[in-house]
Amino acid sequence: MTATDYIATHSMVKDYLAKALADDATRQQVSGETYARVKTQLQDSGACLIAHYYVDAELQRLAEETGGFVGDSLEMARFGARHPAQTLIVAGVSFMAETAKILSPEKRVWMPTREATCSLDLGCPIEAFDAFCAAHPDRTVVVYANTSAAVKARADWVVTSSIGLDVVEMLDRRGERILWAPDRYLGRYIQSKTGADMVLWDSACVVHEEFRLQDLDALQKLHPGAGLLVHPESPEEMVLRADAVGSTSQLIAAAETLPHMTFIVATDKGIFYKMQQRVPHKRLIEAPTRGAGGSCQSCAHCPWMAMNGFARLEHLLTQWPKDCEAQVDETLLVQARRPLDRMLAFTGAA
Ligand code: 13P
Ligand code: SF4
Repeated sequence: MTATDYIATHSMVKDYLAKALADDATRQQVSGETYARVKTQLQDSGACLIAHYYVDAELQRLAEETGGFVGDSLEMARFGARHPAQTLIVAGVSFMAETAKILSPEKRVWMPTREATCSLDLGCPIEAFDAFCAAHPDRTVVVYANTSAAVKARADWVVTSSIGLDVVEMLDRRGERILWAPDRYLGRYIQSKTGADMVLWDSACVVHEEFRLQDLDALQKLHPGAGLLVHPESPEEMVLRADAVGSTSQLIAAAETLPHMTFIVATDKGIFYKMQQRVPHKRLIEAPTRGAGGSCQSCAHCPWMAMNGFARLEHLLTQWPKDCEAQVDETLLVQARRPLDRMLAFTGAA
């Protein structure tokens, strides 16, 4: 991808972002009455709600209280594939619902809104990615789960942040050279840890890219004993300082196992709901971004995850609008299933 292509993509990302942020501004607090009504609708529907840690706390709570699930992107994929419900509702972003559909084509998979996307997915259009792969025909293609079904269909492996490092380590041991896409920060992190021969696609997460060292120093001075938890989609300067680097679930586990009583957390602030539940006695502080009111676009809150509000969930549960159902082209589905099955087999979950 040329620099010009990337900037063009980036401005498109900004348009999406502006739309999602405008949407966020219109959202209202969920009342107890609304919560109870939507809970009954969900239970009556027989659908299973699978939520990511970044969606609103009320949605995570609803998933927990109705026999659904809250987890990282790998665990969501695993849970959806194993659960007997024939109707899944994915509260997350579109690649998560597509993954659930690819792994369970016989199930109906819905989202509160399919407009909830991801800057990494947007930043890796299939045409340009296909050309990138064609320019490196001798490399094993490893893509992050945060991609479209078409990009997955072009890949040898799909990985999430919880297993990317292990998969590349294994491929490197086998002497394979890697083509990695789309997150350049995660790619660089894996490269530095494994020493693998990797060419990297140039894209980033608009949320994690905002974390900055400049204000971290001041925050760490204020909280000298605090541990630093960092998602590997963050810039290298943050990762290098971290006490733990990992997927959302791995960061929650680190908050439990590390001895620190205070943590500075560099990932979407939606994670605080589950993390605080698991370490109620510990203090959690948001890592600094360019700052609310500063130049930060997302301020540690994924605007697309935020689109999964209660109002949209209720609309889904009462109307089941066609445009909320995940659709994956049949040929792509078969092709994308191979690297996804490989991913699950690698974790022993196939
Ligand atoms: P996890 O796999 O860690 O849940 O990450 C998904 C994601 O989109 C992070 O921004
Ligand atoms: Fe994509 Fe970043 Fe949002 Fe995760 S936080 S879904 S990587 S934009």
